[in-house]
Amino acid sequence: MGKDVIIACDFATAEQTFAFLDHFTEEKPYVKIGMELFYAEGPAIVREIKKRGHKIFLDLKLHDIPNTVKKAMAVLSGLDVDMCNLHAAGTIAMMEAALEGLTRPDGSRPLLIAVTQLTSTSQERMEEDLMIHAPLDQVVMHYASNAAKAGLDGVVCSPLEAAKVHESCGKSFLTVTPGVRFADSKADDQVRITTPAKAKEIGSDYIVVGRPITQAEDPVAAYRRCVAEFVG
Ligand code: C5P
Repeated sequence: MGKDVIIACDFATAEQTFAFLDHFTEEKPYVKIGMELFYAEGPAIVREIKKRGHKIFLDLKLHDIPNTVKKAMAVLSGLDVDMCNLHAAGTIAMMEAALEGLTRPDGSRPLLIAVTQLTSTSQERMEEDLMIHAPLDQVVMHYASNAAKAGLDGVVCSPLEAAKVHESCGKSFLTVTPGVRFADSKADDQVRITTPAKAKEIGSDYIVVGRPITQAEDPVAAYRRCVAEFVG
């Protein structure tokens, strides 16, 4: 599986998204579409970006009863996205149902990645709000191993956790890692960050990079720098 840089297109409208993507005249970066843009613009935004030749990670983080997730995933695979995701907290049965729904009649399907515990969840909140009392890093690894058991392709995690996930779930189990910053750029609201070069060294399969590219004075140059550091 080739390593790639995924640009988080965290824009509010199709207009802003296309204004950004128009900068790229030579390469067709892999793009991540999140809830904000998808709920604002609907499936049309996916079709339009696909038509322009980009690969798409549709980051909608599904979490519902297995049957509902299965049917929703069938709709997403019909949209021809390349990667989508769900919450591992929905249980192994939900993840298995999602895979079934995602698989097209010809046997092909988008990659399916699990969110373990959100990075916004602290040990304290997990214990008090969710009544989960194991250490957070153990919960993350347990959810990752549930995702592997269900047959999923990988997890979203911090680049700093990627090596551990590969160790316990196998080298081919994908790690998709946000929280990436250039050595000389600002951290924004990200806390546990690493550079593209370091993410490569630790073994991330895909890095998800937003503001260091979308807010850069020269987004194409920033993207190329990311690719050069991460893919080589
Ligand atoms: O702008 P920045 O590079 O921080 O964007 C990172 C992207 O990855 C955002 O779309 C953010 O929502 C997403 N993300 C994250 N941390 C996670 C999961 C997703 O930063 N644990």
